[in-house]
Amino acid sequence: MKTTLKLTVATLAATLALTFAASAEDTNAAAGAAALPPASTKTGLTFDKDIKPIFDVACLKCHDGTKPKQAAKLALDTLAGVLKGDRDGKVVIVGNSAKSDLVLSVAHIGEDDTFMPKGKGAKKLTDEQIGLIRAWIDQGAK
Ligand code: HEC
Repeated sequence: MKTTLKLTVATLAATLALTFAASAEDTNAAAGAAALPPASTKTGLTFDKDIKPIFDVACLKCHDGTKPKQAAKLALDTLAGVLKGDRDGKVVIVGNSAKSDLVLSVAHIGEDDTFMPKGKGAKKLTDEQIGLIRAWIDQGAK
C-alpha cells in the first residue's frame, strides 16, 4: 500500500517536472522565432544610399508617396515620409531601432496584421536587411 502511494507521488512529480520543462522550451522557441536580428556594424549609413533600395523593392508597391493612396498613409519613398510616420504617428524612433514599429513589423514581432511586407508573394526581409535598417535608425536615421 505504502509503496504504491510513493510511486504515485513520484510519477506525479515527474510528470509535473516534464510539463514545466516542456513549457519552458516552448517559451524559448517562441522567443527565438520572434527575436530581433542584431543591428549591422556598418557605419555611415544613409537613407538614400542604404535603405531606400530595400524599400524600393519590398515596400513601395503599397507605400509610395508619389501615388495618391498609400497603405496606412505611410510613404516610404523619402526620408521625410519615413520620419513622418503613418496615420497613427511615428513608425521610427530615431536612435532606438528596437522600439521602432517599422523594425518590429519587418522582423515579424507583435500583431501579425502589421507584419511587413504583406501581400501576395511577399518575402520577409533578410536578417542582414533588418540589421541595416536597425543600424541606420540607431545611428540617427540620416
Ligand atoms: C501589399 C501592400 C504592402 C506592402 C508591400 C508593404 N506594406 Fe506596410 N502596410 C500595408 C498596409 C495595408 C498597412 C496597414 C496595416 C493595418 O492597418 O493593419 C501597412 C502598415 C505598415 C506599417 C504601420 C504598421 C505599424 O506597425 O504601425 C509599417 C511600419 C509598414 N507598413 C512598413 C512597411 C515596410 C517597411 C514595408 C516593406 C518592407 C511594407 N510596409 C510593405 C501594406 C503593405
